[in-house]
Amino acid sequence: MSRILTGLKPTNILHLGNYFGAIEPFIKQQAHGDENLLFVADYHSITVPQEPADLREHIKFAVAVYLACGVDPEKIILFQQSHVQEHTELGWVLSCVATMGEAERMTQYKDKARVKGESVSVGLFTYPILMAADILLYDTQIVPVGEDQKQHVELARDLAERFNNRFGYTFVVPKPQIRESGARIMGLDDPEKKMSKSAASEKNYISLMDDAETVLKKVKSAVTDSEGIVVFREHKKGIVNLMTLYSLLTGLSFKEIEGVFEGKGYGDFKVAVAEEVTTFLTPLQKKITSYLENEDLLNQVLASGAEKARVIAQKKMTEVRKKIGIAA
Ligand code: TYM
Repeated sequence: MSRILTGLKPTNILHLGNYFGAIEPFIKQQAHGDENLLFVADYHSITVPQEPADLREHIKFAVAVYLACGVDPEKIILFQQSHVQEHTELGWVLSCVATMGEAERMTQYKDKARVKGESVSVGLFTYPILMAADILLYDTQIVPVGEDQKQHVELARDLAERFNNRFGYTFVVPKPQIRESGARIMGLDDPEKKMSKSAASEKNYISLMDDAETVLKKVKSAVTDSEGIVVFREHKKGIVNLMTLYSLLTGLSFKEIEGVFEGKGYGDFKVAVAEEVTTFLTPLQKKITSYLENEDLLNQVLASGAEKARVIAQKKMTEVRKKIGIAA
């Protein structure tokens, strides 16, 4: 039996990168394992300024999306990070185990700090340590994430090992699980960079809530190349990205996709990609909307998830307090 855990920051925009990088891989495995956990990483989202009223809505939206995507709260523990105080408590302990050098090496922080300069929060700098706490608190073995989070899961591994060496065996050493294709969905407007909701242009991403017209417009404007042939070649970053999406949505291999679009141009291919995206999103959006209308259910799911998560987290924190010498 292995325990799987992952988390996503609550935002108004969850995009196809989030879905294929983390949500789908988690759901595919949710039934296998021992009390798998999925959580809304609300404390992570406040590392950049959030409007409180919006954040409240985004948390609800995240839960509605997970349920609509097929997360089964009977099979797994679905909860909100801040409902389990042990996350921040262990985060503090681990921040005293991590070194400055280690935190400074985190590339995501460096990228964001470069853009925002001195106004970045200390929380943004230390957030990979809170993420390590999220993971280690639950004896997690497998962490399905997109490529961009790999370095953070590796930090969690290092901190687990260091803590275990210093204080005696306490934490399971987790492994990142990164899917072969889809772990890094690229921006439609810039296939050199990952799809991201904080990109400068909305044309960068496909939101799970985009309607058919918007999807078609965005896919049609996706940056490709001037060769005009739908083939999988390393240098054709834009086409490879669209082929990846098409493959994830249809189950076809790259070879099969090349066969289907032989002799056809990018125009036809883009229309086909947009159609597959919309076929996938339309029923999903209906479900999301209907979950959003049922706020009581969303609250119930979170309350019962928190209760179950707390049992595991409190046990681990009691052990940690003893190990480090602040409790008898
Ligand atoms: P977040 O909220 O930025 O992203 C959520 C998940 O989506 C993946 N992802 C992508 N995958 C493929 N292609 C993309 N373009 C793309 N963009 C995002 C991310 O890799 C991630 O898996 N720190 C985390 C949240 C977190 C967490 C954790 C994850 C907090 N604690 C513990 C796992 C375990 C984050 O900011 O993800």
